[in-house]
Amino acid sequence: MMRKLLLIVAGVFVVCALAAAVFLGAFEKSVVAGDIDEPLTADAMATLAKRGAYVAVAADCFACHTAKGGAPFAGGLPFETPFGTIYSTNISPDKETGIGAWTRAQFHRALRDGVGPNGHLYPAMPYASYRKMTPADVDAVYAYLMTREPMNVANKANALSFPFNIRQGLTFWNLVNLPADAGTENPERSAVWNRGRYLTDALAHCGECHTPRNALQGLDQAAYLEGADIEGVHAPDITKAGLERMGFGPWVLSTFMKSGLSAQGGMTGQMFEVVHFSTQYMTTDDLDALSAYLFDLDDLPADKASPDVSKPAAVDAELSAAAKPTYLALCSGCHGVEGQGIPHVVVPLSTNASLRLTSARNLIRVVLDGIPAQRFPGLERMQPMPGFATDLTDRQVADLVNWLRRKWGGQDVDIRPEEVGRLRHDLEAASADTGK
Ligand code: HEC
Ligand code: HEC
Ligand code: HEC
Repeated sequence: MMRKLLLIVAGVFVVCALAAAVFLGAFEKSVVAGDIDEPLTADAMATLAKRGAYVAVAADCFACHTAKGGAPFAGGLPFETPFGTIYSTNISPDKETGIGAWTRAQFHRALRDGVGPNGHLYPAMPYASYRKMTPADVDAVYAYLMTREPMNVANKANALSFPFNIRQGLTFWNLVNLPADAGTENPERSAVWNRGRYLTDALAHCGECHTPRNALQGLDQAAYLEGADIEGVHAPDITKAGLERMGFGPWVLSTFMKSGLSAQGGMTGQMFEVVHFSTQYMTTDDLDALSAYLFDLDDLPADKASPDVSKPAAVDAELSAAAKPTYLALCSGCHGVEGQGIPHVVVPLSTNASLRLTSARNLIRVVLDGIPAQRFPGLERMQPMPGFATDLTDRQVADLVNWLRRKWGGQDVDIRPEEVGRLRHDLEAASADTGK
């Protein structure tokens, strides 16, 4: 009886919420305006498509819309959310299963308002960021996609729990989380700074991973780019303060986004994919602009130096005695006794950014799980790093991590063995889930 009553109450609540959503829909603000109802001429499409190839790479459309080993732009890549699994869709120009029959206006609405012909899109598609794209860039991507090969691949059905499977509910999300207007130029700042902001916020959507989310899964603009945990990994603070803390200067950051390698380490995990599919193809001017903006500069400075962050924190004799033998036995063969690494083979640890983060999550994770072999832009490649989950106890990992962070990272806040245990447990659960 009680259960039945609860169900009725829940049902009434959902119906009210939906009714509210429909009503609120009237307030939803579209940023799409102008003459986009006019179709583009064949000539315009041909010219735009060339530039669109670059815009699409900077916006990383391919990476999300291509399943592992799947047809290009045919979708099907899964995204795990707290509410279930969402699949990216086919955006190849196939008329039946892709976007081949979409008008220019429909495409603009999908990218910038998050509303497709079949209803609201889930924000796993980063329209909250693309909202700031210029209409000209949206046209360019549209023209480019229409020149791709049509792929007849049906979309996968999402596996979302009720009530999150009702797209109309996103009206509410949009009202709360979408900026009302598209980004505007800041006339007080240089063209370089403005271009950098456009790349960061609109195209490359760095904030989708590096800005923490609020309770409703919207980007918490009060903590813009200050770092967030995504799928068990910490995407670090990339504000000026955060970057300097990791040891990055503006020049190093710009080349790092091209090569994925620097004295501060190699890009790993999701960030490796960002470099691999997107930023390595950006022009030097664009990467310099991105870097200048992140350091809040109007242009890259004349001085190419990185900040000096070599100041170690105190290491007591007890911690050294517990951790140094582990380092010498398991790590120094590759990373060197002084943490110097081996050029082109193993990254140095003495200058590694992952030792300098307030969060020790990524460092512990690397020690436990290792890193697969990675190919970097150019001919650089890194050998795989083995994981040490079965060799080391939680206490040994904690000692090793604390010693490394103090010695080379200047971090004096220690990690407890229980925290290593919790992360170890989470990682085991995650790999059991994905069957890896
Ligand atoms: C971070 C991953 C991600 C990126 C980057 C991304 N998308 Fe998406 N996109 C998705 C997901 C997931 C969906 C499905 C959303 C849904 O079902 O509501 C989607 C849906 C769409 C749709 C709606 C298709 C339909 O059938 O309704 C279009 C159009 C689209 N994306 C175009 C693009 C373009 C163009 C780019 C690059 C400018 C891009 N996407 C970049 C994840 C992404
Ligand atoms: C798909 C999510 C995602 C996007 C988009 C993304 N990042 Fe990251 N980024 C990460 C994660 C996760 C890490 C931590 C990687 C690790 O240590 O395993 C990271 C790390 C970094 C680092 C530190 C490198 C290091 O050695 O750990 C920098 C700098 C960075 N990102 C800059 C950027 C910039 C600039 C952009 C936009 C152009 C961007 N990121 C876009 C997820 C992302
Ligand atoms: C077989 C060689 C090898 C051994 C042994 C090894 N590593 Fe590594 N390690 C690597 C390589 C190669 C990379 C760079 C991988 C990349 O960036 O693609 C790396 C990267 C790292 C990173 C940087 C991760 C990041 O996100 O940038 C840390 C931290 C690290 N290792 C710590 C350790 C510690 C601690 C030990 C000992 C417990 C250890 N490594 C043992 C080869 C090794």
